[in-house]
Order: sequence, then C-alpha cells, then structure tokens
Amino acid sequence: KQDQYVLAIETSCDETAVAIVKNERELVANVVASQIESHKRFGGVVPEIASRHHIEQITLTLEAALGEAELEADEIDAIAVTEGPGLVGALLVGVNAAKALAFAKGKPLVGVHHIAGHIYANRLEKEFTFPVLSLVVSGGHTELILMNEHGSFEVIGETRDDAAGEAYDKVARTLKLPYPGGPHIDKLAAEGEDVLNFPRAWLEADSYDFSFSGLKSAVINKLHNAKQKGVTLKPEDVAASFQASVVDVLSTKAYRAAIDYGVKQIIVAGGVAANQGLRNALHEKFEGTDTELLIPPLHLCTDNAAMIAAAGAVAFKQGHRAGYDLNANPALSL
Ligand code: KG4
Ligand code: ZN
Repeated sequence: KQDQYVLAIETSCDETAVAIVKNERELVANVVASQIESHKRFGGVVPEIASRHHIEQITLTLEAALGEAELEADEIDAIAVTEGPGLVGALLVGVNAAKALAFAKGKPLVGVHHIAGHIYANRLEKEFTFPVLSLVVSGGHTELILMNEHGSFEVIGETRDDAAGEAYDKVARTLKLPYPGGPHIDKLAAEGEDVLNFPRAWLEADSYDFSFSGLKSAVINKLHNAKQKGVTLKPEDVAASFQASVVDVLSTKAYRAAIDYGVKQIIVAGGVAANQGLRNALHEKFEGTDTELLIPPLHLCTDNAAMIAAAGAVAFKQGHRAGYDLNANPALSL
C-alpha cells in the first residue's frame, strides 16, 4: 500500500474535532463539532459542559470523518490525539477515544501537543523551510517558537500573564460583546481610531516575552473612569486603540525575532491569527523581506483536528509512539 493515512482527534477545549490527512499534507477529512452556542450564555467555556458535549459528539464525529474520507477504520495507519495542554476533562474524552480505537483496530497511537498542532496547520498549505519562527496567539497561548527542524520546538518568548486571546475576550466582556470576543473587537476596531493611547508592554529591550494584563487593566480603568465622569467613549475607538496596542507589540516582537534568528518563514497560528489587524500589520512588516509570512486560512486558525493530524503524521514518521497508558496532561509543555 502506497498512501498513508493519519486520523487525529482534538478535544482540548470546546470543539470536538476529527480529521484525516493523507501522506502528511493532504487533508481528506476535517470535521469540527463546535459547542460555542452552549457556552455563550456563560461568557466563556464551562469545563463540565465541554466534557459532556465531547462525550455526546465523539463517536458521531469519528464516523463523520471516516465517511468524509470514504475510508474504513482498518485503512488508517496511525491515530493521533491531542494529549495537552487544555481542559483535563475535555482532553480525556479524546485521549480515551483514541486509545479505544487504537486498541480495537491494532493501530499505533501518537500523542500531540496542541500548540505543535496550531503550528503544523500551516504545513497543510505550504511546506516548511527551516528555520521557521511561529507566533502562536490563542485563547490560552502567546508564544514565539523557533524550529530548526521538524518536531523541534524552542520557546524564545511567551506571555508573562494573560494570553492575547484572553485579553481580547476580557476586554470584549467589558464592552458587553458576545463570547468569544476576539472577532467582535476585530470588527469594531476597523470602524474606530487609535486615539486612547493605551500602553504597550515592551518589557526589557532584548526580551521576546509579552504581557497583556496591564493593557487589559488600562482599558477597564479607562471605561470605568469615563462612566464615572459621565463621558461616553466610542466602543469603536476603545476596540481600535486596544487592538492597535496588541498588534503593535505582537508584530514588532515577531519581526525582531525573525530578523535576529534569520528565519526563512514566519508562521502565525492560533485563534488570534484570524485577526485582520494583526494580519495587515504582519503583511506590511514582512513584505519585501527574505522571510516568508504564512498565515493559515481562517478554518485552520481556530481549533481543529486537521492541525493535530498534520503534526501527528510527522511525529509518527519520526517514530514517536504512545502506549495505552497515554494520559491527558492539562499542563503539557512543548
Ligand atoms: O486557538 P483557539 O481557537 O483556541 C485556543 O486554543 O485558545 O483561539 C481562541 C481565541 C479566543 O480568545 C478568540 O477570542 C480569539 O482566539 N480570536 C480572535 C479572533 N478570532 C478568534 N482574536 C482576535 N481577533 C479575531 N479575529
Ligand atoms: Zn487552540
């Protein structure tokens, strides 16, 4: 048999997802069952509800993915699964489903780090040319990760407090926008102006680390003070000013790191990679440089299993195997 198929399961947060890749880079099935509607009224993901939905959806999602690829489970060569980081109860559903399938069908099992997945989503679009720098920006992560070869991840910068997406969601909540707030702020920001002069946390001159909690507090305080003084701030301007600060710091640090490490490609990954302001700023910064900018299409930016299959296929080729003692690890490091 020539072709190789890797099936992947992702249940780390609020999407039950199963995907199948052929020969590492060709996506043949990509099914995502989102639970966003169930969490919306709570203004965030409720872990217990997430786990219960994953249990309801996992078998159906698996069947849907095999159906989409027109494959039988016996034709799959390896089963990859997100082992962490994420919500432990949510991760456990995926890990147990993967173990059950691997055991029942006698297939090898591969554990995948969720962030490795976000990075590898890009390989479904374009082959990597090392060294590669990734700016991973999601609800739980803000990291600059250097890769000199497949499967090697060096974290050169990370957030010291809130993740970028988390800051987006918290500011959105203060503006009474629905959850998840990132896309709403992004849309509002396009209609407003950067006039509120929010701080930018550059930290030490040579640091690639990030900090967003000060910015978040500045926005909340500004809204609070305006309210007390009876002044109304235009939400469009609050969104535009907040976004300008986040985008300025993210794009400037990513650019500096790309130059310092002489990378061939820069990848933007995670839910916040969907941000139009960030996309525009990065395009501007990297245009005409020797660094190629890769940003996955929107459906591969937010959580999905295609990215886990892409990362899992490489780990599988490199010989990584998990045993039936594979466990969910909510604090797994890269
Ligand atoms: O990667 P992801 O789907 O899940 C995590 O692993 O966290 O990222 C979700 C995060 C949320 O915080 C959401 O508000 C943010 O990505 N997000 C955005 C945009 N779309 C999603 N943030 C800013 N602008 C967007 N357009
Ligand atoms: Zn994610």
